[in-house]
Amino acid sequence: MRMYDLLLKKRRGFELEPAEIEYFVNGFTKGEIPDYQASAFFMAVCCCGMTESETAALTHYMAVSGDLLDLSRFGDLTVDKHSTGGVGDKTSLVVCPILASLGAKVAKMSGRGLGHTGGTVDKLESIPGYKTSLSIDAFMAQVDKTGLALIGQTGNLAPADKKIYALRDVTATVDSIPLIASSIMSKKIAAGSKNIVLDVKTGSGAFMKTIESSVELAEVMVKIGKACGRNVTAVISDMDSPLGSNIGNSLEVIESVDVLKGKVKGDLYEVCVVLATEMAVLALKMTPDEARKEVIDALESGRAYAKMLEWVTVQGGDVSYIENTGKFPKTKYCREIKADCSGFISSMNSEEIGKSACLLGAGRVTKEDVIDPSAGIVLKKKTGDEVKAGDVIAEIYTNDESALENGEKCFNSAVTIASEKPSARSTVARIIR
Ligand code: URA
Repeated sequence: MRMYDLLLKKRRGFELEPAEIEYFVNGFTKGEIPDYQASAFFMAVCCCGMTESETAALTHYMAVSGDLLDLSRFGDLTVDKHSTGGVGDKTSLVVCPILASLGAKVAKMSGRGLGHTGGTVDKLESIPGYKTSLSIDAFMAQVDKTGLALIGQTGNLAPADKKIYALRDVTATVDSIPLIASSIMSKKIAAGSKNIVLDVKTGSGAFMKTIESSVELAEVMVKIGKACGRNVTAVISDMDSPLGSNIGNSLEVIESVDVLKGKVKGDLYEVCVVLATEMAVLALKMTPDEARKEVIDALESGRAYAKMLEWVTVQGGDVSYIENTGKFPKTKYCREIKADCSGFISSMNSEEIGKSACLLGAGRVTKEDVIDPSAGIVLKKKTGDEVKAGDVIAEIYTNDESALENGEKCFNSAVTIASEKPSARSTVARIIR
């Protein structure tokens, strides 16, 4: 087989055989196929697309390019979730303890934040002592005993994806549905859970800006997962505005604890309940109505909060920060952002608000950047709220005084105030089972 022939075949619009895709994935991962041929392959995929069979084969060979976690000892009770990324998206911190409190097994590996989106691992690291790296034996033992372990992705999980993503990132080939779907699903398949719920974000802060493209991505991922023997559901949820009120690492832990304690309702609560419901439907074989009732009961009874305390404790975290979130360090600087006119908040562009949080120190522009766990934004108003000139729309927090100006400017560029109340967007637009 020659890569040149595969490129020509793909460029001319013919379907590649699984063996040809295996040749490409293995060759590129081992360094035998050079970057220029791989780049040409990704560009051809962006231009010509991929058939279902090609996408399934690409996902499979990426998944088996490294370690495969064997969770079979937990039977069919294992459940994972994945978010396509957003601003203020702290749902994993809420839904994982809910599911574990209901008896499911959550063996989860999560990523770090990059660019305008946050990452669960960074959020958890804001809890002093929390270990985001465990040996596989310790990880499995914790899932067995506590029902939940959440760590950073291990080095050898889908290594093909790591190499492929790095090249796509610099060759303008990220936004291709088959490439995004295979990248996400290869990691989920390798991570081993039988049941997977995908939270596909839609709107200004999401990869997919329109409902149509979000549904298309979700349908491809659900099909791939099912073809690989997993039970998969996708929830299309709104990311046109940030989710919840807090953006930034310890700020998001605080808001998650508030949801688990029943202190917060609104969009974040609703997305968490829908995701947890779908996870319970798959892993615990409940009807959607039964699952929603159980999920709400786990929150209202305090069982999900108790599970979070247990989980953080066994994973080395100082649980006193969860019991008393006032202990999280405050930043040196805080500035109130006020409305410059009266009206309704007609939009809060998530991507720009994520960039503002990044400028304040809450995120990374490059992988090497060090984040400030206390930095971020607390929204005091959300899209659709009425404001009077001078009302506080948000508070921005940073330890870097010089970041205040740019952080504020970027935040202000994200917010529009209009005289008309905007029409409401659905928090959850669609569920694809
Ligand atoms: N997230 C991933 O893991 N991969 C992509 O290609 C896009 C988003």
